[in-house]
Amino acid sequence: MLVAGNWKMFKGPRETTAFLEAFEPPAGVDIVLCPPFASLAAAVGRGVPVYAQNVHWAAEGAFTGEVSAAMLLELGVEGAIVGHSERRQYFGETDATVQQRCEAALAAGLSVIACVGETDAERDAGKTEAVLRRQVAAIPRHERLVIAYEPVWAIGTGKTATPDIAQEAHVVIKELHDTRVLYGGSVKPENAAELMARPAVDGALVGGASLEPGSFAAICRAAVA
Ligand code: PGA
Repeated sequence: MLVAGNWKMFKGPRETTAFLEAFEPPAGVDIVLCPPFASLAAAVGRGVPVYAQNVHWAAEGAFTGEVSAAMLLELGVEGAIVGHSERRQYFGETDATVQQRCEAALAAGLSVIACVGETDAERDAGKTEAVLRRQVAAIPRHERLVIAYEPVWAIGTGKTATPDIAQEAHVVIKELHDTRVLYGGSVKPENAAELMARPAVDGALVGGASLEPGSFAAICRAAVA
């Protein structure tokens, strides 16, 4: 099981240090934290592997606002999230750029959590499987890559996918791509165990509930149980 905490645009270096002083990770589960770029250096070296929330495909260059894999590795960062739905929705991320980012990160030696998931409208229109097929087709096969299934309608909304919905989508993804698949979207201490008990659910990508050390530790413990 792998449980990743995606802090999004929360926690500067000071709050990052305070979190890690209070966080008590259980044994028996892989845990990673994904702070914002500005807090990566504060998070590294404190006992929990650290991933970035994005990574560019070029080694360096005129790409204002972007960060390369080599820069992350120099900081001691071990991986990156790629293709989060917020990147796709608000920052123009496409399947093509997701593919480029994944390939460059893997080639440089980073691990990758590549995100896929359908919107509300796509699910209502019966397009979930087609969307997942298209998105997964752009994701490279690699032993250091895992996929996160994050239905967009469940992210930050409190509307968690039922374990049956998650299981069904994960099976579709695993038929296309032989990898671990994490579930993301309103994972909380109260629903984490039930979701991760499903055979095709190999862990969780947690947003809001990863911001507090107690609730994130409780979700990590649910992955051990
Ligand atoms: P959430 O976010 O847990 O706050 O719904 C999950 C994510 O976007 O990774």
